Amino acid sequence: MTDAVTPVHAETLDILRLRTSEKWVTYPADVLPLFVAEMDYPLAPAIADAIIARVRASDTGYVASPAPVAQAFSGFAKRRWGWEVAPAGIRTTTDVSVAIVETLRQVLSPGDHVVITPPVYPPFFDMIPEAGGRVVEVPLVDDGTGWAFDFDELEAAFADGARALLLCNPQNPLGLVHSATTLARIADLAARFDAYVVSDEIHAPLTHMDAVFTPFLSVSDAAREHGIAVTSASKAFNLAGVKCALMIAASPRITAILDRMPEEVLWRTSILGLHGSVAAFTSSDDWLDGVIRSIEQNRVLLGNLLATHLPGVRYREPHSSYLTWLDFRELGWGDDPSIRALDVARVALNPGPSFGDLGRGFARMNIACAPDVLEVAVARLAAAR
Ligand SMILES: Cc1ncc(COP(=O)(O)O)c(C=O)c1O
Repeated sequence: MTDAVTPVHAETLDILRLRTSEKWVTYPADVLPLFVAEMDYPLAPAIADAIIARVRASDTGYVASPAPVAQAFSGFAKRRWGWEVAPAGIRTTTDVSVAIVETLRQVLSPGDHVVITPPVYPPFFDMIPEAGGRVVEVPLVDDGTGWAFDFDELEAAFADGARALLLCNPQNPLGLVHSATTLARIADLAARFDAYVVSDEIHAPLTHMDAVFTPFLSVSDAAREHGIAVTSASKAFNLAGVKCALMIAASPRITAILDRMPEEVLWRTSILGLHGSVAAFTSSDDWLDGVIRSIEQNRVLLGNLLATHLPGVRYREPHSSYLTWLDFRELGWGDDPSIRALDVARVALNPGPSFGDLGRGFARMNIACAPDVLEVAVARLAAAR
């Protein structure tokens, strides 16, 4: 990204409140909704045009093949991350959640253990049982300056029979971008125990300019033999409602696993989602850069606002995406600070404990909003102390 990047501006609250999505209908108008992972920016023009064109052509039937979006994603991965991924190993389905469940179904026997590393995206706790597995938590370790995997505990979990690790790369809610070295170590561990790694890379396109995203499947042969990546345009381009996600294999072994899935898993992809995703991955780089720029500005703004008005809340800047992990413990707002935030400040955040036990005393805040919304939100939280 060069300095020529133009930030993308969030819509005003009046316009946003015309939306009918979860973010805008869950709470009354006096609440600032900074919870669910939807962004307040207008759609990238190329995406809106592509979807509208398909609707105008009444082209709303079934998806014929993953090829157009596989090709588009492959180009995007090469341009943005230098990752050469063969379109032939890419399949599609409705969304990343379904991609995770269906992938796990293929590699688990009922009751098999699957490792997650909290604090992590709450539905991970439910997707594993949905696929027939049992959750094993190996929390990240916080040394006071940053988070890291607990490799001793990961190894113990695999030695104890865990069949898979559900990785969040980059990790929601921390905006933590895992390094190539860390990912290679995880791949080696999975190979040693003949386990699988399902790498959820949905937030990757929103990696900030001061970090480098490493696709899990790019790190080693071990990763390609034992890893499946799942991703979509839904977070970075705000397309959660149009239903198209990618399941990516980079070895014949993993491709064979994807091909064991019932055909219906692929058929359920939305044709509007497919065309929207093609436009996202081929023709929306400038828009994406502008959104990242706006999020980076909000990331700094939030730090300044907290330092000035709410110093009891600790915050480490994310390096990917627009989700921030706020530590309210010093304020004494209890295990779930989002309750007081909503009841008293009228700001909707996600409850920290839903991300795992480590989340007690924390809340997640979505900063993909206008800077003035962030200013009002922090002012209201400060007044609620
Ligand atoms: C890490 C992660 N995975 C998956 C999802 C859900 O994606 P989808 O709507 O494609 O199922 C989200 C949504 O916020 C997420 O943060």
